[in-house]
Amino acid sequence: MKIVILTGAGISAESGLHTFRADNGLWENHKVEDVCTPRALEKNPTLVYEFYNNLRRKLNSGDIHPNPAHKELARLEDHINGLDDDNNEFTLITQNVDNLHERGGSKAIIHMHGSLNSYRCTACNSVGEYMEDFTQDTSCPHCSESALRPNIVFFEEMPLMMDVIDDKLRSCDIFCSIGTSGNVYPASGFVRFAKEYGAKTIEFNLNNTLVSDFFDETIIGESSKTVKKWVDDYIQGGS
Ligand code: APR
Repeated sequence: MKIVILTGAGISAESGLHTFRADNGLWENHKVEDVCTPRALEKNPTLVYEFYNNLRRKLNSGDIHPNPAHKELARLEDHINGLDDDNNEFTLITQNVDNLHERGGSKAIIHMHGSLNSYRCTACNSVGEYMEDFTQDTSCPHCSESALRPNIVFFEEMPLMMDVIDDKLRSCDIFCSIGTSGNVYPASGFVRFAKEYGAKTIEFNLNNTLVSDFFDETIIGESSKTVKKWVDDYIQGGS
């Protein structure tokens, strides 16, 4: 069985990270457009760098931990990778820029929207881990130019690893989406694509979403509970 999982901000909500579209559409008290577009970075770099520095500090503060949903996905990955048959494959794609999947034990993660604990240099294109605050004046560890930006895919920018994602969606048997509202393209279109290629599609969310109609099944509830039950059932089912 080939499984593709897509996660969004909802899976990290129970770990204490805010989702994007709760709180009247404000993300950590900012409009997403003010901190998550190339224009925002150009117009108000101080705000944008500070915003991601704050989020990174929060993520690494020691107060934010992976919850059972992150851990259950790691368990499922281990289970599937431990099966003999080459027809089994597990792929985890996340829109989240936090590192809770890694810390929950997942090994192979596609961060399609980038990651908070890293930089991208606009001079030499290097990408690397960066756990500290940085600004437009910080020197790149690779080329020494002052050209670092948060390694975050902003609106209007192309998500990462789309070629790999496209392949995985075409060949999967099961596509699950966990804690994402279906507002942001292209991730919101994955369900239709996977379904067109024959996958069974399952959504996990607190409520119905904009794209629920495209799923074969929507499982309502907190993902820490619903994902655990689903993984238990899947593993016990002997697949
Ligand atoms: N369990 C399951 N679902 C939950 C939970 C929970 N405990 N808590 C919240 N949710 C659901 C909400 O009902 C909502 O549908 O998670 C979803 C979060 O939606 P958004 O805030 O829109 O986050 P997401 O879909 O990940 O946003 C996509 O938008 O701003 C961009 O790049 C950013 O990656 C982000 C993208």
